[in-house]
Amino acid sequence: MATLALRILQLILFSCLLAAGASVASQSLPGCKLECGNLSIPYPFGMTPGCNLNEDFLITCNTSVSPPRPQLLDGNLEVTNITLERQVEILNYVAKDCYNHNGTNADWNFPQLRAAMFTISNDRNNFIAVGCDIKAQIWDEHEHTNSTYFTGSMAYCEKTDAFHLNGSYSGVGCCQVSIPSGLKNLNMSVLSYYNHTSVWDFNPCSYAFVVDESKFSFSDKSFGELAHKEFLPMALDWAIGNEPCNVSEHKPDYACKQNSICYNPKNRSDYLRRCKDGYHGNPYHHDAIYNMLLLILPFLFHCSVPFLPL
Ligand SMILES: *[C@@H]1O[C@H](CO)[C@@H](O)[C@H](O)[C@H]1NC(C)=O
Ligand SMILES: *[C@@H]1O[C@H](CO)[C@@H](O)[C@H](O)[C@H]1NC(C)=O
Ligand SMILES: *[C@@H]1O[C@H](CO)[C@@H](O)[C@H](O)[C@H]1NC(C)=O
Ligand SMILES: *[C@@H]1O[C@H](CO)[C@@H](O)[C@H](O)[C@H]1NC(C)=O
Ligand SMILES: *[C@@H]1O[C@H](CO)[C@@H](O)[C@H](O)[C@H]1NC(C)=O
Ligand SMILES: *[C@@H]1O[C@H](CO)[C@@H](O)[C@H](O)[C@H]1NC(C)=O
Ligand SMILES: *[C@@H]1O[C@H](CO)[C@@H](O)[C@H](O)[C@H]1NC(C)=O
Ligand SMILES: *[C@@H]1O[C@H](CO)[C@@H](O)[C@H](O)[C@H]1NC(C)=O
Ligand SMILES: *[C@@H]1O[C@H](CO)[C@@H](O)[C@H](O)[C@H]1NC(C)=O
Ligand SMILES: *[C@@H]1O[C@H](CO)[C@@H](O)[C@H](O)[C@H]1NC(C)=O
Repeated sequence: MATLALRILQLILFSCLLAAGASVASQSLPGCKLECGNLSIPYPFGMTPGCNLNEDFLITCNTSVSPPRPQLLDGNLEVTNITLERQVEILNYVAKDCYNHNGTNADWNFPQLRAAMFTISNDRNNFIAVGCDIKAQIWDEHEHTNSTYFTGSMAYCEKTDAFHLNGSYSGVGCCQVSIPSGLKNLNMSVLSYYNHTSVWDFNPCSYAFVVDESKFSFSDKSFGELAHKEFLPMALDWAIGNEPCNVSEHKPDYACKQNSICYNPKNRSDYLRRCKDGYHGNPYHHDAIYNMLLLILPFLFHCSVPFLPL
């Protein structure tokens, strides 16, 4: 008898947890689509007006390609991941500069990134230049000072040097420069010293890009692989508003609500939210924050109260 009662209790608990699981997974606003392709789009991001916090967080789902492609900022950038811990992963252009055997330019581009309210994550990305006759640069205005930020990387190598290094950046074939915090825009260029004339037989092209450092490592295969890459992964930081918590909390559009806490990321003027201790879920979405303990306890007695207010 006691066993049966226990089984029934287990069954109830199990079905309640299933129901709770479904609510927890619902990270978008009610009535809003959560996925584009296989990427889930948590609030404050959203795909249709009213589903996102504001236009900065609009993701366009391009359904004319298969699988559908989530796009940010007027469709320029493909989004590959969104985390509520302040980052968006995107695919960004690789800058290249290619030559014909006779030293004339065969193919080149000067990519730019206009990141709007996002900043280029300086703790996850590096600027990398790959080539044996390369002068690569990134520049643009710096968010806080309005000064033009400028950095570069240069390398020249002979055939024998080029293939000695694996995963290290010594200036031979590949070099890496860190980027400062607060960069919102990026202009990139790749130029050469001698039009690749003496390295052309093994290195007709140079490449430069800002890349998520955990997703790129240099090896002797990099020259060949980069020839087929138009984009590489990069991380952007996001936050809400452009003022610190103590200023924003007095404004009507303040986004920090129940069971979540506002915090100011280091070196940034904007704010983010995190759930209060003991709470889990999406701190931007009121219904998706839950407290593990409060979630389970009521189910023992009452199944229909999935969330208790604090
Ligand atoms: C999402 O789809 C892309 C392209 O089809 C695939 O490369 C990636 O592994 C998928 N991600 C997940 C988490 O399924
Ligand atoms: C969707 O992707 C295709 C193929 O890349 C592109 O031609 C089209 O412009 C995109 N649509 C939108 C709305 O960005
Ligand atoms: C997205 O990022 C999170 C946190 O870094 C990671 O756990 C998750 O596996 C990533 N998802 C994909 C599809 O890359
Ligand atoms: C250089 O080579 C390219 C491609 O082979 C050719 O189209 C071009 O006419 C050449 N230019 C000169 C000045 O020889
Ligand atoms: C190198 O390339 C540039 C740009 O295509 C061209 O103006 C210049 O004449 C070339 N120099 C040589 C030595 O071929
Ligand atoms: C970056 O490139 C864009 C387009 O070419 C240009 O309008 C902008 O002034 C450039 N930024 C800087 C700092 O040179
Ligand atoms: C940067 O430029 C903007 C627009 O021109 C201006 O409003 C702002 O005060 C400037 N900031 C600094 C620190 O000079
Ligand atoms: C570089 O790494 C690749 C793949 O790990 C390996 O096949 C190759 O032999 C290495 N080259 C040198 C010079 O160590
Ligand atoms: C907000 O906090 C910063 C740093 O803690 C302080 O300098 C600033 O005066 C505060 N602003 C307001 C409106 O309280
Ligand atoms: C914040 O800025 C300081 C000084 O500019 C710098 O040393 C530090 O690395 C920055 N921290 C982050 C997380 O970007």
